[in-house]
Amino acid sequence: MILANRRVVLGVSGGIACYKSCTLARRLTELGATVDVILTAAATEFVRPLTFEALTQRPVHTSLWEPGTALAHLELGRGPDLIAVAPATANLIARAALGIADDLLSAILLASEVPVLAAPGMNDEMFAHPATQANLATLRQRGWGLIGPAVGPLAEGPSDRPGRMVEPEEILVHVERALRTPEGKLGSRHVLITAGPTHEPLDAVRVITNPSSGKMGYHLAERAFARGADVTLISGPTSLPRPTGVEREWVTTTEQLREAVGRRLGTADVLIMAAAPSDFRAREVASGKPQRATAGHSVHLDPTVDVLEATIPHRRPGTVTVGFALEVGANLDRAREKLRRKQLDLIALNPADEPESGFAVDTNRVTFVTDTEVRPLELLPKPEVAERILDEIEGRL
Ligand code: CTP
Repeated sequence: MILANRRVVLGVSGGIACYKSCTLARRLTELGATVDVILTAAATEFVRPLTFEALTQRPVHTSLWEPGTALAHLELGRGPDLIAVAPATANLIARAALGIADDLLSAILLASEVPVLAAPGMNDEMFAHPATQANLATLRQRGWGLIGPAVGPLAEGPSDRPGRMVEPEEILVHVERALRTPEGKLGSRHVLITAGPTHEPLDAVRVITNPSSGKMGYHLAERAFARGADVTLISGPTSLPRPTGVEREWVTTTEQLREAVGRRLGTADVLIMAAAPSDFRAREVASGKPQRATAGHSVHLDPTVDVLEATIPHRRPGTVTVGFALEVGANLDRAREKLRRKQLDLIALNPADEPESGFAVDTNRVTFVTDTEVRPLELLPKPEVAERILDEIEGRL
């Protein structure tokens, strides 16, 4: 489990977003972390301690004055690898900024030296208030990591200003990053990832493309960020949300993909080409929208540039380069040929003709092919395939 042996204090202050912190506590526990939840008195008005106790299978703390816990604020604050505060209300932020320690959570924050990540969640006017902004600036300067808030509907109605706490899954990725960065080799490395299909225009409204959803590349981007990398994702057209923490650049055609990769390659320690660029483009793009009835309408197709191969002379020495090979049948010889021709460290071979593998599904059955070995993996969810690929990359950095 990714977070086994990691200890997190999850501080929950009293805002309506408390209900989302239940999901956060649960997901952290599922990933193997030991989670000690501290609720402020106001938080207990929104969610009962028992809910968190059941989700974390640990005692939950709510007061400085519980019998037998005279030094809890010192003990709880010394043990963990990280303190996460979600939601961090305007009130909690103000008390922490001023060093007021009038309840268990604020006392732990004052007594502890471990890193703090906080996800502010409050009414948009409270967030915009100069007092809150000044308090957040103080905490940021002291080294607190701040996640959000997001723009979106508040409990009391629609809003187009920041205030709403970001979603638990996004906080989780940031917590993971804080916990995993020290152990891996991807910390502060620049990882360049391509994802999705490309579209090659045939005329004003029609394109040549393929069914790639972009999921594999997007999972790789999020998982690399969770390991501490600075991630740039160059994406063809997809409807997927931007992965947490990742900078995304959109491209449409294979030529635009080549240009964007070329522009970003100079700083990349790792290049992962998970995109499925269209291999063909129309020699001439017809103007307007030719009618369906046009008799004998034919299109001459030219090959597009091989983006990965084109990067060879421009890669920095030592750049770890990974490609995918989508083949009908487990065609090892073709994968090996691509590995050599594109000068890759690793190729992830995946069959295009199995229902649970390849395009637009949530699982993948890949075989790792390198200079020295061929290693089939079991059928795995795409996020897990991403973790395995990143393990291989870390082994080569
Ligand atoms: N690739 C690329 N540029 C292209 C086509 C593919 O950079 N125009 C990359 C893919 O992102 C992938 C690897 O090359 O990482 C292999 O892609 P694949 O489609 O399997 O191979 P092709 O080189 O396109 O060869 P073919 O279509 O003949 O199998």
